[in-house]
Amino acid sequence: KTIHILNGPNLNLLGKRQPEIYGADTLADVEATCATLGGELGLETALFQSNHEGEIVEMIHRARAAADGIIINPAAYTHTSVAILDALNAYEGPVIEVHISNVHKRESFRHHSYVSLRADGVIAGFGVEGYTLALRRMASLLT
Ligand code: DQA
Repeated sequence: KTIHILNGPNLNLLGKRQPEIYGADTLADVEATCATLGGELGLETALFQSNHEGEIVEMIHRARAAADGIIINPAAYTHTSVAILDALNAYEGPVIEVHISNVHKRESFRHHSYVSLRADGVIAGFGVEGYTLALRRMASLLT
C-alpha cells in the first residue's frame, strides 16, 4: 500500500524556519524517517510539498488513483482553504491531518481547521514525530 504525505506552504523551509516552534529537522529528514518506518510497516511512502494552493488540490486529485491513504500538513491553508477541503472530500481513503506545532496553544486564527471536517484523525504538537505517529495509525487503518 502507498501513502502520500502532502505538505503545504513554507514547509520547504522546515529546519530553518522558526526552529523554536517547528524544530531543527528538515522536510528531507521527515521524508527519510517516514520511508524507513514505512518499510518496517509494509507501506510505500511518497512525500510532496507545495507553496501553491492549486498544486495541493492537484496532489490530492493524483492521490485518488495513486495513494491508499493521505497524511497532510496543509500548513497555513489549514485555516483558509475550502478548496483543499473539497478536494479531500473527493478522496475515498483515510486522511490524517498533522501539525508539527500545537495549533491550539497558538493564535486563535490557527484554532479552526477546514481540513479537520474531513480528517479521520488529527495530530498536533508532537513535532515532526507527528508524521511517524500518523504513519503508524495509517498502518492500523489499512490492515
Ligand atoms: C502548521 C501550523 C500552521 O498554523 C502553520 O501555518 C504552519 C505549520 C504546523 O505544522 O504546526 O505553517 O501546520
